[in-house]
Amino acid sequence: MSQWSPFQNSPARGRVFAQPMTPLNINGQVHPVNADPSTPTLWVLRDILGMTGTKFGCGVAACGACTVLIDGQAARSCVTPLAAATGKSIRTIEGASQSRAGQALQTAWLAHDVAQCGYCQSGQIMSATGLLEKNPQPSDAEIDVAMAGNVCRCGTYQRIRAAIHAASKTLA
Ligand code: FES
Ligand code: FES
Repeated sequence: MSQWSPFQNSPARGRVFAQPMTPLNINGQVHPVNADPSTPTLWVLRDILGMTGTKFGCGVAACGACTVLIDGQAARSCVTPLAAATGKSIRTIEGASQSRAGQALQTAWLAHDVAQCGYCQSGQIMSATGLLEKNPQPSDAEIDVAMAGNVCRCGTYQRIRAAIHAASKTLA
């Protein structure tokens, strides 16, 4: 049975587009992508490249499930067209451990048993990674600002904050 995709009913799904391959730098590797420049980066990641760690939630930049880092900045890949990600450095949950901050966060996430259903968690970790890479010792208020766009229907917010502080201590 094929995997469910939020784009499975799109008329463009599976089409080969008549334009040059777009080289996309993801987690330090260049992936040639044949897709229309308006294609959402989330679609490219999941449906074209099979990198399904990044999740689809709302599709309108309202939940954060699809968060990746683009040139180190947390970005909602569901509303980031391929053209806007081209020539930049994309980091997904599959490459989160490429930085000290990402490694520390993943360790802290496990230690604090943060995940419940898990659906939002790759987006949460990518937003937290973007935060700690820029600000290794954030205050509660700075954490709240950085994580404000990531919704968790399981209500793991307190454990997320605790895990970010724990990771932060190991980066001091
Ligand atoms: S799926 Fe992108 S913000 Fe919700
Ligand atoms: S862990 Fe379930 S939505 Fe966040």
